[in-house]
Amino acid sequence: RRDDEQTKKEENIRCLPLLDNFGFECFPRQLVHRSIQQGFSFNILCVGETGIGKSTLIDTLFNTNFKEHKSSHFHPSVGLKVQMYDLHESNVHLKLTVVKTVGYGDQINKEASYRPIIDYIDTQFEAYLQEELKIKRSLIKLHDSRVHVCLYFIAPTGHSLKSLDLVTMKMLDSKVNIVPLIAKADTVSKTDLQKFKSKIMSELAGNGIQIYQIPANDEASASVNSLQECLPFAVVGSMDEVRVGKRTARGRQYPWGVLQVDNESHCDFVKLRNMLLCSNMEDLKEDTHIHHYQRYRCHRLTKIGFADVGPDNQPLSFQEIYGAKRQEFSEQCQREEERLKQRFVQRIKEKEAEFKETEKELQDEFQHLKRIQQEKTKKLEEERRQLEEEIIAFYKMKADFEAQQAQQAQPASNL
Ligand code: GTP
Repeated sequence: RRDDEQTKKEENIRCLPLLDNFGFECFPRQLVHRSIQQGFSFNILCVGETGIGKSTLIDTLFNTNFKEHKSSHFHPSVGLKVQMYDLHESNVHLKLTVVKTVGYGDQINKEASYRPIIDYIDTQFEAYLQEELKIKRSLIKLHDSRVHVCLYFIAPTGHSLKSLDLVTMKMLDSKVNIVPLIAKADTVSKTDLQKFKSKIMSELAGNGIQIYQIPANDEASASVNSLQECLPFAVVGSMDEVRVGKRTARGRQYPWGVLQVDNESHCDFVKLRNMLLCSNMEDLKEDTHIHHYQRYRCHRLTKIGFADVGPDNQPLSFQEIYGAKRQEFSEQCQREEERLKQRFVQRIKEKEAEFKETEKELQDEFQHLKRIQQEKTKKLEEERRQLEEEIIAFYKMKADFEAQQAQQAQPASNL
């Protein structure tokens, strides 16, 4: 079109400015329109000790007041609190999921404090994978709950990272985009803060912990470099309105002055907000999908037995893998069936032997009882015989006695 305009100019033909765009230059507009219609979703994970300022920072970031109860310091283990919010800003609709740790850093034994966080992230990946593997899948309608960014709140000790921070970040760095923050940065002096930042960065690098790399593009490379240099962001959260001259601003009031949250020379809150919401939200989501989710997916599918290439380094098709898996499964079933059959036969033999043994025992018992019974019967017979003899003897004695009595009675009657 530019060439056309140039030619027309050269030929002195009158050019009229276009009132609207047409042709393929309208493509970006379609995307904007569709995205606004669909709405946006963003999932943030806040990891940090109890009372470190997680809720306040989220409120400050989204300029809201998600009323919250304070967590107790006496949880026996680390937990997670998941909250979803529907937010609107002009015509943009955002489905925001905020996941916060509960009781993090409060236990004496902190060894497995990262476990519930890892489990949560994996559960979200698994839900997405299950939907992806369905024949009839609806990934567009699915609420994608995968964690897009992890805001890691570092305690403002001004000293160094705690071992809990290092262990947790090391476990998380392959699963989520970590953005480290120095919480309550107003409690550390400016010079201490710079030293603290460098110490944290060198500790992270020394321990091989990968944090989110703010992508550089040509237009914004200068500002990206300055953002990268700012890491970890030293943030202050507050929804309180404080007076600054004739106007009010969000900040924290101290006896010696006012800290404005939205003032870049006071803290890095604005930098964090710009990075998170204005310039890198899509990149964070894409990074989650392309790197972290793919890593999980690859690990899961490999564990199930899928691979892109065979042992001979030849590419494998899904059909081949499926066929091989099916064959392997049917062989495994046959082996299992055979094993069960053998076990069944063995059990029957064992049971038969058991029954025979029991039968023999019962037979022996029966014979023994029969013998006892016979002996008892014999004894009783003997006793009966003796008794009968005694009865006969008795009757005989009785008869003799009666005869004697009769004889003795006769002479008396004769007299
Ligand atoms: P739980 O959810 O209970 O673990 O707490 P949390 O980490 O969400 O902390 P929360 O935002 O409730 O803040 C705890 C206290 O710290 C509140 O009294 C806040 O006012 C205060 N606080 C929050 N952010 C800052 C900050 O940047 N600087 C200072 N000085 N105090 C802060």
